[in-house]
Amino acid sequence: MIKYPLIIDCDPGVDDIIAILVAHSKPEFDIKAICSVSGNVGIDLTTHNARLMAGLLGLDCIVAKGAEKPIIKKAQPVTVVHGLDGFGNCANAFSDDKLSKLSDLSAIEVVREILMESNEPIYIAATGPLTNIALLLSTHPEVKSKIAAISIMGGGINIGNATPCSEFNYFTDPEAAYIVFNSGVKLMMCGLNVTLKATLTDIELNEMRKFHNTISDTIVKIISTYAANDAAIHDPCAILAITNPEMFEYKDQYVQIDIRDGITQGMSYVDEVHNLNKEPNCRVFYDIDREFFRKTIVQSVNI
Ligand code: RIB
Ligand code: CA
Repeated sequence: MIKYPLIIDCDPGVDDIIAILVAHSKPEFDIKAICSVSGNVGIDLTTHNARLMAGLLGLDCIVAKGAEKPIIKKAQPVTVVHGLDGFGNCANAFSDDKLSKLSDLSAIEVVREILMESNEPIYIAATGPLTNIALLLSTHPEVKSKIAAISIMGGGINIGNATPCSEFNYFTDPEAAYIVFNSGVKLMMCGLNVTLKATLTDIELNEMRKFHNTISDTIVKIISTYAANDAAIHDPCAILAITNPEMFEYKDQYVQIDIRDGITQGMSYVDEVHNLNKEPNCRVFYDIDREFFRKTIVQSVNI
């Protein structure tokens, strides 16, 4: 079994915890740490939600608190898509007594330590604003050679959800995205062009209900509320792009990020016509096998 040592950097967020769930359900992954960043909700809630999910799954990985605001831009107002608690207003579906412990070290310190002590390159799945990753690469460039790849849920090609042309994670911290895309680290990007196809139907929700275990009962409750607003389960795509690239369509492209204020803030420009004559800096994913996605999500609660 190929082992992918993995660090998840996220802003849970309903689809973030489905990403954690999918990583946990796949034996190919060895989850080393889960780091929070502010995004869908504020840092205290994303951190608490990461601890709740790690506790629900009984993960023995480190949970560490990350950045409370973007590098330059003002923090965005809380989105309603994930509810005021970040869990579709269903955080009460989790029991606080299973709360995973929180590292005394910051997310950046934890990730630097894990990377520098590892004797093999480590994958990072980034499913929130890229603030932690950008600060890590800027303050500790020595870690770059220890990263196998950063698999990102973010951006898109001529599409947006925060603005008509900018996706939420990049819109929230465009300078962070710019730093990551100009870091030279191997990148994979699942933008909205892919993730808006990553949806579930009532068929899958009913199949998940049938397992009727603590995890399935909790997850179904949360997804059902979330799906009513934003049916796309964006973040697990960044996990599956690592283990199952054959279930996607992708091309290696040159990508840049717009850091100007306004409607194009955080927009990801993919040079599909190669008129910049630049070497590709990112594997851009374009399509996903929807049946594979749906089956994987259903099976992720059959634990
Ligand atoms: O645009 C969708 C992304 O923004 C997802 O990662 C969602 O969780 C939010 O972080
Ligand atoms: Ca997210």
